[in-house]
Amino acid sequence: MGAIIRGLGICVPENILTNAELERMVETSDEWITTRTGIKERHILPKDSGLHASDLGAAAALSALEKAGIKPEQVGAIIAGSVVPDKQFPATACFIQEKIGAKNAFAFDITAACAGFVYGVNLASLLIDSGQCDNVLVIGAEVLSRVVDWTDRNTCILFGDAGAAALISKGPKDRGVIRSLLRSDGGQAGILYLDNILSDKATMRMDGKQVFKLAVSEVSKVVKDTLALENLLPKDVDLLVMHQANIRILTAIAEKLDLPEEKVMINVNRYGNTSSASIPLALYEAERDGRLKPGMLVALAAVGGGMSWGCNLVRW
Ligand code: COA
Repeated sequence: MGAIIRGLGICVPENILTNAELERMVETSDEWITTRTGIKERHILPKDSGLHASDLGAAAALSALEKAGIKPEQVGAIIAGSVVPDKQFPATACFIQEKIGAKNAFAFDITAACAGFVYGVNLASLLIDSGQCDNVLVIGAEVLSRVVDWTDRNTCILFGDAGAAALISKGPKDRGVIRSLLRSDGGQAGILYLDNILSDKATMRMDGKQVFKLAVSEVSKVVKDTLALENLLPKDVDLLVMHQANIRILTAIAEKLDLPEEKVMINVNRYGNTSSASIPLALYEAERDGRLKPGMLVALAAVGGGMSWGCNLVRW
């Protein structure tokens, strides 16, 4: 059987933070942010909303299930990625399970930061291929605004909040996840990290230039390597949906792969970097906008703290 992406759902907070507003918070400018990152605005879940990552993830999951016509009780597993989980434990995936009523599922989180979704898709497809599950939810649930240092202009301009989910289900053999390839290099842990997660001192730290370099070289390589394992080439890809971190990273990778603009999904301008939620959020919009058609070869690729990166090839 194939492991197909059967439904996508998103939950994005209403509150928008524009570059103009950031100009009033730190020494920056819309022009600097736009040219260096491509970001114009990001969505923020207010702290006083009383909502957490699992609320965004649960709403996104319910919407993905509704699209797929699958009931919560039919879900066999929930895999969630979150840089800012509700609590250290239990897993945010367990909170989501309770909120959506998926009482027959087992639920766990993965810690692969912005690469969480591609790691989750790999695991979900293995659970389905092995016959252990028929339906697996892979969810990115992120409230990065709660761990951003709002006085640090190097990082605070980059991130946004969102929840996004994909329901991966047993389907026809000629569709779905064809192959995944995951990589990590713990030697690079120091270039992007977050500690004191549940204290008031939790702030993200990043060596932007090093992250940029690694992202461009490793993501383009992992996409090529994954394709090569299937005797495919970058030109065979119909749509490349990457983790949306920075437009310059996305265009540099597309150039390395020699892919034209129309084959690359970009929505970082409206959401900023939403970590593990960014790929399902981009996929959701690509599908909504008619950019995903049955039979297309879609490559998903991401890099995040760890450093961790990877690629999933999907026959849509
Ligand atoms: N507004 C205005 N100036 C800023 C600024 C801001 N928001 N942030 C940094 N600057 C300044 C720097 O202080 C520096 O000034 P200096 O030359 O006087 O020291 C100058 O702009 C250039 O900074 P630099 O760090 O060289 O910029 P850059 O071109 O590398 O862009 C990033 C910075 C963060 C946008 C870029 O490195 C990046 O996107 N890296 C990857 C980050 C990422 O994607 N992380 C998540 C991965 S999952």
